[in-house]
Amino acid sequence: MADVVVKEGKVLPFIFRHPWVFRGALQEVVGPYQNGDVVRVIGPRHEFIAWGWINEHSKITVRLISFQEDFEERDWFLQKLENALHLRKRVLKLDKVTNSYRLVHSEGDGIPGLIVDKYGEYLVVQVSSLGLNRLIPVLVERLSRESWVRGIVRRDDPVMCRMEAMEPVEETLYGEDLPERFLVEENQLLFEVDFRRCQKTGFYLDQRENRRFLASFVEGDIYALDAFCYTGGFAISLAKAGAGKVVAIDSSRDALEQLKKNAQLNGVSNIVGVHDNVFRSLERYLYERELFDIIVLDPPKFIPNKRSFEKGYAGYKKLNRRAISLVRSGGLLLTCCCSQIMQESSFTRMLAEAAGEAGREAMILARNFQPADHPVSISCPEGGYLKTFLLKIF
Ligand SMILES: C[S@@+](CC[C@H](N)C(=O)[O-])C[C@H]1O[C@@H](n2cnc3c(N)ncnc32)[C@H](O)[C@@H]1O
Repeated sequence: MADVVVKEGKVLPFIFRHPWVFRGALQEVVGPYQNGDVVRVIGPRHEFIAWGWINEHSKITVRLISFQEDFEERDWFLQKLENALHLRKRVLKLDKVTNSYRLVHSEGDGIPGLIVDKYGEYLVVQVSSLGLNRLIPVLVERLSRESWVRGIVRRDDPVMCRMEAMEPVEETLYGEDLPERFLVEENQLLFEVDFRRCQKTGFYLDQRENRRFLASFVEGDIYALDAFCYTGGFAISLAKAGAGKVVAIDSSRDALEQLKKNAQLNGVSNIVGVHDNVFRSLERYLYERELFDIIVLDPPKFIPNKRSFEKGYAGYKKLNRRAISLVRSGGLLLTCCCSQIMQESSFTRMLAEAAGEAGREAMILARNFQPADHPVSISCPEGGYLKTFLLKIF
């Protein structure tokens, strides 16, 4: 087993258990290794720091997994899985509010590169760190012991895999393959997922609480806009809560087809699906002076890396400026940002600039983050990606 020596002056973050060792922090690797192996990470005076998985093809050359000197990989992994199951089942008691949630959230659950989403009796697994491949049989062995599990399917995200120089895998790991269609039950609403034509692992599970939260503000016959609606998570929640009419825009025809079915499933007929680019639709509404009581903006990630910060920031600002202009005085804007690199302070500044440029006043009523089944490690704040502000606009 190899020892990875961290440079003098670069040790502190790892003492505080930050799990990412970038190439620039490494002094040398002593001993033979293969990418994906467990390595011992030590300081310049050979003091023990942590155990990690090495991959020289990744910018994060070592992912730290355990800070206990006494370490056995299989036991470590099983304990982390146990903790993750306990959190969702016993602490958060998520089965009471939904049949679909995130069971393992990568660094947030102390297992770098592992996502497991639960859709009823099926588990969708995404792997994005090389060392984890060795533990997939252990994952299957443990999760298949849960009596409710009917199928475990691996569906890696090709973009995440590319960053680790890994081939993405798509295979059934245990039991049945995913059904073609599945009904997500959330906040007493139903959303059908078509696993052959879906985004993420199927559904945006991270917006569950925000959908319920926003619906609680619906009062009377309001006019709402769900921009970047996907299969109608927010639109249907608003319509079900009594909104008079909801316009829902997305650039994906598949998502809009599914939205139509989801509206029927929930017995709502006042949602108008629009297939368009949101930027263009908002411009048209501005030209037509059409105003809304509630607007939801839940765009995709505009800032995938540091290099694209300025361009992405400008995109968010343009979008929010238009949306703020389209909220009638006294109305609400729920605005989201899933770019991890845009931190809360930058998001707040961007919104202030957007409101200023729109010539409107905005009041923050709530600042929400990702739900607790997407936890963030205190040592790795980079795991916190979702920011959702509720603004009252005047
Ligand atoms: C973060 S998801 C929205 C999730 C949704 N709010 C929900 O609760 O399920 C972003 C959505 O934006 C859509 N999209 C991406 N770029 C777009 C654009 N320029 N105009 C319209 N839709 C776009 C994607 O198809 C995707 O459905």
